[in-house]
Amino acid sequence: MLAQNDDRNELIAMLAWQLDMGIDEALLDHPQADAVPLRLDQLLAVAAPAGDTGVSQTVMGGAAPHPSDAVKMPNPASVNSGLVNPAANPALANSGAVPPEGKINADGAALAGITSLADLQSGLAKLDDCPLKHTASNLCFADGNPGARLMIIGEAPGRDEDRMGVPFVGADGQLLDKMIASIGLDRASVYLTNLLPWRPPGNRSPTDEETAMLLPWLFRHVQLAKPEFVLLLGGAAAKLVLGSHDGIMKLRGRWRDVDFGDGVARPVLASLHPAYLLRSPAQKRLAFEDLLLLTKRLGAVQSNDETG
Ligand code: URA
Repeated sequence: MLAQNDDRNELIAMLAWQLDMGIDEALLDHPQADAVPLRLDQLLAVAAPAGDTGVSQTVMGGAAPHPSDAVKMPNPASVNSGLVNPAANPALANSGAVPPEGKINADGAALAGITSLADLQSGLAKLDDCPLKHTASNLCFADGNPGARLMIIGEAPGRDEDRMGVPFVGADGQLLDKMIASIGLDRASVYLTNLLPWRPPGNRSPTDEETAMLLPWLFRHVQLAKPEFVLLLGGAAAKLVLGSHDGIMKLRGRWRDVDFGDGVARPVLASLHPAYLLRSPAQKRLAFEDLLLLTKRLGAVQSNDETG
């Protein structure tokens, strides 16, 4: 078994995921007898404070990361010349300043004054300079548990999400629910958001200007939610957050440490987007391998915590 869990529903969800993938034989190259069982209560534990340097120390229970895995200062400018470099933007520092009054600047200059997720959401709602705001029906800010250890970042709301104002509620979201259920997680044990909080009209790609405007908000979102781990779904989120030109097939399946501008090296894993998996079900095998990496890392921290 890939995980030992007393909860019957979680076991059923895990088996359903495997059946869905057409698994009728050993899936991975090596047995996973060492897979660490997860407990929901520990997955729900509130993330460590941003200044807690224990993040990378506790996480590194297993093999030391390859030096090239550290992404100290993601440089979106290298992907897109119009982008702000969020980590170099003082507006992204955790300043503890008073929340700003009035209009929110499109360049993120007011972000340092935003010190809660609620203020970040209302700040985004006032971001009139972003064209996407004016064509979308609703702002899709986040879903799930803002205190969760794992933050999942998708690409952009689709039609269903736009209608409901909640990330990942359509077909992609249903597959995502199955994926996280297969490793014992649910919406109450993860925090979900997107690279873009508004649906681009007709699902078009965002312009460089739109991405430049919104990426600092995403980084501030991570700073305020303070997850221990971040899962990026799909090539767009992976390229921008990791500051890479590589495609998702190269970026997925490897942990990297990313500083989202608050000086904390957060372990980030990129994986395949559920929309892609719906179109290419054979690739679910790779997604499942990534989920196992995630399970091991979450469990490794748990094991370290338990042994003090
Ligand atoms: N795809 C995403 O990336 N995010 C959503 O919220 C829905 C579909």
